[in-house]
Amino acid sequence: MIQRFVYDSIDSTNQQALRLAENEGANLAPFLVLAKKQTAGKGRAGRQWESEERGLYFSLYLRPAVQVDKASMLTLVMAVAVAKALAKCVESQIVDRELTLGIKWPNDLVLNSKKIVGILTELRLDNKGYGVVIGVGVNTNQETFPKELDDKASSIKRELGISILEEDLLKYIEEFFLQEYTIFEKEGSLFFLQKTYESLLVNKGKEVRVLDPKGEYQGIAKGIDETGQLLVEVQNGEVRRVYAGEVSVRGLYGYVD
Ligand code: BTN
Repeated sequence: MIQRFVYDSIDSTNQQALRLAENEGANLAPFLVLAKKQTAGKGRAGRQWESEERGLYFSLYLRPAVQVDKASMLTLVMAVAVAKALAKCVESQIVDRELTLGIKWPNDLVLNSKKIVGILTELRLDNKGYGVVIGVGVNTNQETFPKELDDKASSIKRELGISILEEDLLKYIEEFFLQEYTIFEKEGSLFFLQKTYESLLVNKGKEVRVLDPKGEYQGIAKGIDETGQLLVEVQNGEVRRVYAGEVSVRGLYGYVD
């Protein structure tokens, strides 16, 4: 098991991981920061991440042996690991229902078209190379959400009516992630994960709107390439590669569909 730093409450597990890593990152890695709740949970694009108790909030700090420009692919590796772990936890309780859990590119996990997992990866260069923090928030057992999130976000509990143990979920996430990470470090590419990722991709085969600051366009999402870029076929048959850092992707009518 990866070494853990556990808190009842913390501002943000990502922030805490970065603080712990500041002086000793290279010696401490890999380690995991886990909190029952966060008082300043960070989301992507400077947004806040709702982090009351009854969710799973953790950050994994790593010193990957791949070039720094490949580190962002780890977000997709984590998304697959979390999806597999959630499926394992849920399937042990619900046998006769197919789980409609999927990944909205690049790394949001959705259930019944609502977001239940967010992942925020942050990178820090230092004099020994670089370290990366992969922060994961899973809405496990929350029963209510603030009004403004109510139609977009949900939890396993609300969607499926079951409670899952955060401890079990984290154990499975660690297991699946480490299996995939070992291969990723060796290969430096997502080639090995492409098919699995695409089988979970809710956008696959669907019309998407690409919100590119240089100009919005529509097309059909075909899958991902070996670096994790989304492949979008536009009307003239050209396939464009969409890099997650620059743009976001939406369904035609909403967040997913
Ligand atoms: C998103 O906007 O989708 C990313 C959300 C990431 C939230 C997690 S919760 C644990 C970790 N600590 C943080 O402050 N953020 C991440």
